[in-house]
This record gives sequence, C-alpha cells and structure tokens, in this order.
Amino acid sequence: MEFKSKIKTIEWVDNYSKMVDQTVVPYEYKFVNITTGDDMFVAIRNMIVRGAPAIGIAGAHGVVLYAQELAERIDSREEFVSELVKKAEYMKTSRPTAVNLMWACEKQIEVIKNSKADIKGIIEELKQNGINLENEDIKINKKIGDYGSEIVPKGATILTHCNAGALATVGYGTALGVVRSAYAKDNTIQVFADETRPRQQGARITTFELAMDGIPVTLITDGMCSYFMNKGMIDMVVVGADRIAANGDTANKIGTYTVAIAAKYHNIPFYIAAPLSTIDTSIESGKEIPIEERSHEEVTHINGKRICAEGVNIINPGFDVTPHELIAGIITEKGILRPDYKKSIAQVFESNLAKA
Ligand code: MRU
Repeated sequence: MEFKSKIKTIEWVDNYSKMVDQTVVPYEYKFVNITTGDDMFVAIRNMIVRGAPAIGIAGAHGVVLYAQELAERIDSREEFVSELVKKAEYMKTSRPTAVNLMWACEKQIEVIKNSKADIKGIIEELKQNGINLENEDIKINKKIGDYGSEIVPKGATILTHCNAGALATVGYGTALGVVRSAYAKDNTIQVFADETRPRQQGARITTFELAMDGIPVTLITDGMCSYFMNKGMIDMVVVGADRIAANGDTANKIGTYTVAIAAKYHNIPFYIAAPLSTIDTSIESGKEIPIEERSHEEVTHINGKRICAEGVNIINPGFDVTPHELIAGIITEKGILRPDYKKSIAQVFESNLAKA
C-alpha cells in the first residue's frame, strides 16, 4: 500500500516557480510565485525554500528564470550561453552546504552546454529538465521510503532531527519518506521530533507535515533525546543529509551529531536517509564540507523577540558533520549502504555509471 502525502513543496508552472513559503509554516500554509532568478537566489538564501533536495530543484528553476530574463535582452546564442552558465554558477552560491543545489545547477549547465537548439529551444529544454528533476525527486523518495521501511521494527518509535520531509524535498521526504512508507505498513509506529534550534524546523515543519498526514508525532526539545533513549523509548534514529562525503561522513542540521553520539551510547541504530545526489564523491571526508554560518539573530531571537542579554557573543553554524563511525546505514534509492562506506559508496556510484 502506498502512502499518499498531500504536500507538493515546489513546482514549475508555465514560466515561474511556485513554492510553499516555509518561513511562515505552521502559522500559514501559503504558496509564493518566484518569477526572477535573483528572487530565487534570495528565496533559497532566506529559506523560503529549504531542505537539500528542495533547494536543488529551486536552483534548477532559478536557472530557467535567469534564461528567460537573458533571452529578453540577448540575441546572440553564444553570448546567451556564456552569460547563462555564469548565472547558474552564481545560483550555486545561494547556500553553501547542501550539495544537491550544486548538483541540480550542474544538471542545468549540462543541458545548456549539450544543447543544439536556439535560445528559445534551450529555455524549453531547461524547463523540461527542471520538471523531470522534480518528478524524479518524488520517485527517489518513495524508493528511499520503501527500502527504509524494511528496517523499521514493528511499533517502532523513530527519532528525527530537523525536517527531512515532504517540505524539504518536492514531496514525500527522505527521513520522513521512510516514516511514511513504514506507517503505511504498520500504523502503530510513531515519531519523536527534535525541536531543532535555532530555526525550529522540527517544531515548525516536521510536526506540521506529520500532523497533516495523520502520523503520530511527539515534539521534544533538542536536549531531551538522551533522556528518552535512556528510558528505552526510542528504537531508531532516521535523519536526512545535506552532504555526504566519500567516506560516509554526513553533514546535516546542527545538533544531528549530538543525537548520533547519544544513539551510539544507548546502542540505538542511527540512519541517514538521502538520495545519491546528496553524496559528494569529490570530497574524501566531512572535513571538506563547507559549513554555513547563519545570522546571529536566529540564535538571539525567537519569533522576533530577543531571548538573551544584549552584547553576548554568538556563533551560529547551520550544520554539523556526523562521523561515519556513528552511522548504521545510509538509506538511498539504490538500497541501504552499510560500512565500509568508502567501499559501498564507491560501488553504488560505479554500478550507476555502468548502467548510464
Ligand atoms: O537549513 P535547512 O532547513 O535547509 O536544513 C535542512 C536539513 O538539514 C535537512 O535535514 C536536510 O536538508 C535533509 S532534507 C531531506
């Protein structure tokens, strides 16, 4: 039985990109239309759209928006191609950690460079490629969900951190895709969601989308996970990823590393759920993953209200890296990768290349 999720986070419509405005969830569930490349850059940076796979698709749409704008003022195909590639490279810089953004913009650059069409034709090819990537994302998440659901024990309580759900992807989700597929088989499972300070994606977004789909969810604050693990109330951890190095080290939302250490101590399996587009085989280890430093106000304020004294020092890394030793498996659309990750990751990429 397939689980029907009601959410579609981002989609290309005619000549613009339509997306859920995630800065206002759960107070409002509304859509915004992004009509220019620069507005898409800002939408990604300001997290109107967020979550690694979703910002990948947003980046791909952003390249189409830039293409439409350039076509209005450039007649020469050569100049159009060269300017558009520069814009696509620029779009990659809207956020630094999630590699899906660079991956999807690179997919659009391949289309631009390989096209034999005129300017109008290139734009059509880019639109189509963006739509294909969208559709592909949902299919991939369902496969991740299916593989993941096989390892969820009956009646399990699954702890997750941040939001790796339908709202972090085009739909269905990666970590929450595993939850959705598992729930379709066994409706006695439930989720514990970490609040995820500073931006509270767990509290605001994960609980919202699970409640919308009728999946039981309990919200806890970030410091509570060891307490519940120690009480035997957590059976497994499943989180998403923003970038996975060739050795399996995984960047995900700040706080994930702490959860992984707590899980190891309590002998609870800690899984990553992510598409292969999140794996960056060009880097050997997590040390090479760029970590986004975000605004200090995310820490000093909640809902516009200051929560600490003026003048305190603030550091706000958006992500941390969980060492591969703490990861029991990486659930992908090609199956569950197990340690030794250097080998299993290399193998899955080799067999993918062989099939291409
Ligand atoms: O800063 P965000 O909200 O974009 O961070 C999101 C996460 O860390 C998610 O867990 C990750 O992107 C996986 S999404 C399927």
